Amino acid sequence: MTPSTQWKENIEPGEVARLEKYGEAIHALQIKRDSQGSVKRRALHAKGHMGLKAEFTVLPGLPDYAQVGIFAQPATYQAYVRFSNGGSTVDDDRQGGTRAVAVKLLGVGGKKIIPGLENASTQDFLLIGAPALPFKNADEFVSFVTMANPLFDLPKIILKIGLGRTQAILKIVKSPKPPTISLATMRYYSAAAIQFGPYAARYTLKPQAMDTPGAQPGQTPNYLAEDLSARIKQGPLAFDFAVQFFVEEAQTPIEDFSVAWKEEVAPLVTLARLTLPQQDPDSAPGRKLYEFVEKLSFDIWHAPEEFRPLGNVMRARGVAYKASVKERQALPEPDGSEKFE
Ligand code: HEM
Repeated sequence: MTPSTQWKENIEPGEVARLEKYGEAIHALQIKRDSQGSVKRRALHAKGHMGLKAEFTVLPGLPDYAQVGIFAQPATYQAYVRFSNGGSTVDDDRQGGTRAVAVKLLGVGGKKIIPGLENASTQDFLLIGAPALPFKNADEFVSFVTMANPLFDLPKIILKIGLGRTQAILKIVKSPKPPTISLATMRYYSAAAIQFGPYAARYTLKPQAMDTPGAQPGQTPNYLAEDLSARIKQGPLAFDFAVQFFVEEAQTPIEDFSVAWKEEVAPLVTLARLTLPQQDPDSAPGRKLYEFVEKLSFDIWHAPEEFRPLGNVMRARGVAYKASVKERQALPEPDGSEKFE
């Protein structure tokens, strides 16, 4: 069935100024942290586990409605991939927390959204290990992410978003989560929507590799990188790239990021395969590749116009990523001619 085109963004008055303030608050977090070390890092997702080469293959025979932009015809795009932890500091993997992957496709045609980068040839997908956030919107996200001292900050958060929402968020944030066994066997989600031609969609990466029964998480501070490195030296890893199309606002909201889009409501449509070919991250070229990927800027706004990010959190990210990237002097968009020998 052709997806709905009835999705809508809701931009509240004063949003632009509010999002600028949120960008500044996250920037302040980055500056404060970096003043204590010698390396400039991303404001969030500071710990990069691994930077790898990848291929993104668009499958043949996609439904007509899905044949938008890069999905219009079967093709293989070269890509760079960065796996990260979500925090603003470089923490021990055993502490848990958000795991993420960012994918940058190369050689993508079409006019891009960011002014000044209209002719860039990249398209980025950013995903985390959860189908929804504990937060409904940027007000909630930024209040919690920039919280320095709960005793002092929580009363301010309650005043801003209400006691009920504060309690609901704390409950999710503090609830025990299963440990990550491997970055290669977990599923990743955009947790937010993008335009997809006339439609709107969220996307996900589903791993081909599976945990062996009874597998336990590693016992070292960087076990996630160590596990991924061991696997990718042995052979390729693959993920299916699938989308869910918007159905209606209550069940597949555009502006509320705390709601997961259920697959019974918005079924998955598999469009492509992301393959990480066998490679050696510990070789000299592998280490150069890692350093290069650390300096790249992955941003959902690096996209052709038909894949415009949607909703308040996405608009907030537009401001925050720009500031973070400027502060850490990220590299310009790559074109695939990079060499790591
Ligand atoms: C659906 C919600 C979100 C997802 C899925 C997400 C995902 C990600 C991922 C995967 C990265 C790492 C990119 C890389 O490896 O280079 C990242 C970085 C970052 N995120 Fe988010 N994020 C979300 C929401 C937000 C929000 C609401 C903000 C702030 C308003 C934010 C601020 C940042 C910043 C500042 C960076 C570092 C950017 C850089 O310097 O490259 N994120 N995010």
